[in-house]
Amino acid sequence: NAPVVVAIDGPSGSGKSTVSRAVAARLGLSFLDTGAMYRAMTWWMLTNGVDTADAEAVAIACGKPVIVSGTDADGPTITVDGVDVSGPIRGPEVTAQVSAVSAVPAVRTRLVELQRDCAGLAPRGIVAEGRDMGTVVFPDATAKIFLTASADARAERRAAELRGKGVDEATIAAMAADLVRRDTADSSRSTSPLTQAEDAVLVDTSALTLDQVIDAVVELVAERA
Ligand code: C5P
Repeated sequence: NAPVVVAIDGPSGSGKSTVSRAVAARLGLSFLDTGAMYRAMTWWMLTNGVDTADAEAVAIACGKPVIVSGTDADGPTITVDGVDVSGPIRGPEVTAQVSAVSAVPAVRTRLVELQRDCAGLAPRGIVAEGRDMGTVVFPDATAKIFLTASADARAERRAAELRGKGVDEATIAAMAADLVRRDTADSSRSTSPLTQAEDAVLVDTSALTLDQVIDAVVELVAERA
């Protein structure tokens, strides 16, 4: 029996992260947040003064950082050159520039290799979430899911999450605009754009509760494993 690979793709705010972690925990699988790897690469570029708008400079530098991604479903950490960057990679500076860095082909080649290594090391299999899991990284995945939600539902969820953390309304509005910008960039880039794989199952989460989405994905994996 080949190890299980569950590939989950979709735009920001579709519920991907929460769903992927819950499915991994429920099925006893490892969990890989590939967005965190692109964020860690971006954090390293910013910390080391590499101009993220200069694709050539990014391509030359991207082999340098040692990125190690944890695969524990209940709180994976990610380190760059031994430093835990789990917190800083969620900050506004990294978020604003990650799409530019992730559009550089050399960055993708390097991180895709790391992602496949992680899957190979997972003892029982892995739930991998990102933008190109089903299309590029794991074309032979056991199950492929493309999670979407209406733009309104995605913005509203993200706003509720930020309000809960006490973030002010102006910042929430700015982050909503950034989310739209990022999705447009991720979907229109030439290398591995965000797109649904032909054999992926589309799950629109707009009108579903979190538990309903988790149940649907778990059922799908059970059908195919
Ligand atoms: O999932 P998250 O929002 O943390 O991803 C951050 C960014 O990383 C995305 O906006 C996208 O530019 C990039 N990304 C990617 N391919 C993936 C995962 C993330 O290009 N597989």
